[in-house]
Amino acid sequence: STPNSDVLLDGDHFVDGILYPDAVLREEEYKKVLDFPLQSDDTFVTSYPKSGTVWTISQVKLIKEKVQELSGSISGDTVPLSKMHLADSVSWLEEDGKEFGMALPYPRTLTCHMPYHMLPGGEPHKSPAKYIYVMRNPKDVSISFHHYFYVLVERKHEIKFDDYFEMFVNGNPLYGSWFDHVLQWWDHRDASNILIVRFEEMKKDLHKSIRTISQFMGHNLDEPTINAIAEECTFDRMKANPLLNLDTSRYAKKYNKDRTFMRKGVVGDWKNHLSPEQTAQFDAIYHKKMDGSGLDFGI
Ligand code: A3P
Repeated sequence: STPNSDVLLDGDHFVDGILYPDAVLREEEYKKVLDFPLQSDDTFVTSYPKSGTVWTISQVKLIKEKVQELSGSISGDTVPLSKMHLADSVSWLEEDGKEFGMALPYPRTLTCHMPYHMLPGGEPHKSPAKYIYVMRNPKDVSISFHHYFYVLVERKHEIKFDDYFEMFVNGNPLYGSWFDHVLQWWDHRDASNILIVRFEEMKKDLHKSIRTISQFMGHNLDEPTINAIAEECTFDRMKANPLLNLDTSRYAKKYNKDRTFMRKGVVGDWKNHLSPEQTAQFDAIYHKKMDGSGLDFGI
């Protein structure tokens, strides 16, 4: 058996060399969504899965809602987040397909985990849209991703962490290589329509993250407004808020009841999971791939 055979399901398949779950992306859908028409007021939140995507989307959506409230206009998303679930007001383009994205109210918030060169709407640095790419320490990403297998009903078969870890560092994991994913975005970090944010920085100073994101989106919010958004976006508040927690979203039917999307939300949980051997193996591969890039995760 291959090292991946305990991790993968029959439906998992490659699209342009990247492995996807059947439920997430089909070749025909991908072809349709590839030329998704983007415009300058679209905000795209993109990431390698488990990097803090939903957290970042929540900040973006609340920023838009506050701007709309303050301006008294209805030119923003017409349904405020407080009345509509986050998951219903955002399109996961690879999974939802083209029509759902096209039907969203303007200005749209879009999201996607596909790698840079495969993103719907074309290469980000050539696109009119704004992109916020969120990245996270890859050791923590691997832990969070392994947990996510247990959240998803379709992957309820036991997946040993050691098998997934092997795939994550050495193989061709679901959603492709973390290393390639972040390095592609990092190469384009100077593009004026791309902002890179970090899970660890949001954790350290959420207020600062919201200010940076709102300025990137073209809004100068005052401090009390930023504080109000930050309060809504703490781990505990998001977990308790049925409108911001994916456990209570249109995705809920895909989730096992005894597992939660909002797992721990901390930095450095890998220390509780990786063996000294795995840590050494990870560090060696990390340095081989990342040294010279200027990207530093303290590894
Ligand atoms: P953990 O599994 O480590 O807890 P994504 O949205 O990209 O799938 O990322 C999910 C990860 O982000 C999960 O990590 C989840 O708990 C964490 N997360 C979501 N909201 C958060 C918040 N407000 N604060 C901290 N972490 C959060």
